[in-house]
Amino acid sequence: MKIREITKNKERFLPLLLLGDEQESMIRRYLERGSMAVLFHGERAAAVSVVTKEGDGLWELKNIAVLPCCQKKGYGKKLLEFWLERLKGQGVLQAGTGEVPSTTGFYTACGFQFSHRIPDFFVYHYDHPIMEDGKLLKDMVYFSRKL
Ligand SMILES: CC(C)(COP(=O)(O)OP(=O)(O)OC[C@H]1O[C@@H](n2cnc3c(N)ncnc32)[C@H](O)[C@@H]1OP(=O)(O)O)[C@@H](O)C(=O)NCCC(=O)NCCS
Repeated sequence: MKIREITKNKERFLPLLLLGDEQESMIRRYLERGSMAVLFHGERAAAVSVVTKEGDGLWELKNIAVLPCCQKKGYGKKLLEFWLERLKGQGVLQAGTGEVPSTTGFYTACGFQFSHRIPDFFVYHYDHPIMEDGKLLKDMVYFSRKL
């Protein structure tokens, strides 16, 4: 298992990125300006993550996704730890997500705390209803962690 930072041809990881954010147009809003790290299992990409700088001392994990067959094996946490180490002492890392236990549980297990919410984000910014774990997503909830 190896984590590599990717600077070129990031679109080749779109199939993985779509697991974390199912609308391609939304991914394209942050893909180029974001920094990408991919976890490889042998030659196979098993997990992806994208982080952007949103302001002075404010970083955002825009996407994190692990192949379904590789979930719950610690890969998501390993990628997060990569960014925590890379951005150490540089402010705060936040992550926005739908309000479902599968993702909020992941962030709280990784030391993040609830920060704020943007009401109806998924309703206004996505061109189709977004379902996650059988629930229609409405608000974007943000979690954050000091770096
Ligand atoms: C959410 C996701 C990135 C988590 O990655 P993962 O590799 O499966 O998670 P890990 O195995 O690294 O788990 C890390 C911790 O989170 C916890 N966790 C992971 N999934 C969880 C879940 N569904 N519910 C509750 N806790 C969970 C684990 O128990 C673990 O806790 P521990 O360190 O105390 O043992 C992954 O499930 C995924 O890609 N989901 C689909 C895409 C997605 O929803 N992305 C997030 C968009 S914001």
